[in-house]
Amino acid sequence: MRKQIAAANWKMNCTYQQAENLLDEILGAGIGLGAQQEVVFAVPFPYLIMANSEVADETNYFVAAQNCYNKKSGAYTGEVSAEMLQSIKVPYCVLGHSERREYFQESNQMLAEKIDRCLENDISPIFCCGEPLQVREAGTQNSFVETQLRESLFHLPAASITRIVIAYEPIWAIGTGKTASAAQAQEMHAHMRSILAKQYGPMLANNISILYGGSVKAANAKELFSCPDVDGGLVGGASLQTEEFKTIIKSLK
Ligand code: 13P
Repeated sequence: MRKQIAAANWKMNCTYQQAENLLDEILGAGIGLGAQQEVVFAVPFPYLIMANSEVADETNYFVAAQNCYNKKSGAYTGEVSAEMLQSIKVPYCVLGHSERREYFQESNQMLAEKIDRCLENDISPIFCCGEPLQVREAGTQNSFVETQLRESLFHLPAASITRIVIAYEPIWAIGTGKTASAAQAQEMHAHMRSILAKQYGPMLANNISILYGGSVKAANAKELFSCPDVDGGLVGGASLQTEEFKTIIKSLK
């Protein structure tokens, strides 16, 4: 069975002390995970080493970076490479979050390169995609998301595609309190899996985890995660609240 994942995207929040406390509180709850379940904390770069040592003794708890650069190394002041992340044993990296696409002009092509840098360094990308409100209102979200997958992922050989975790994050649902309904999430996830199946075959498509993101909270996680093609969530705001995120973890299939 493919992995079920509760991923926390902390974005640009928390001081070091707050980050330590939040991890201590969540890990201190001792929520045991099944063999196919994982919890991933995407924390700001300066906290990755600390967070990695916090999860070191836990089973199936991991950290993620929130981004990396598309070049291998060199004169790119302020950027962080996938090789640097590998050297501190970071297993996951969020790529293509809509905030990065919007504020930092990340294109599908640039994301394809970032995906390659991560895979070269044995880091599993958590690849984000999803449509803006005007695309949803025009009813063209299926082809919009298909293009995102095609242009950033479909250069990969079959052997690499199962290293990818995909997060469907409709932009109109991020930080807005407006969640996609379980039916909307399931419909898009099934569509994405069918595109993956056409490209890579149903066996591989069935092994790829597709997370839902966008105003996931304790009150709606169970319903969203119970959809057959929703394999957990990428959670922003609610992942910064201990009790909320604990309930979200417990809502995994
Ligand atoms: P919210 O859960 O705050 O809507 O954010 C979702 C998100 O962007 C996760 O990456």
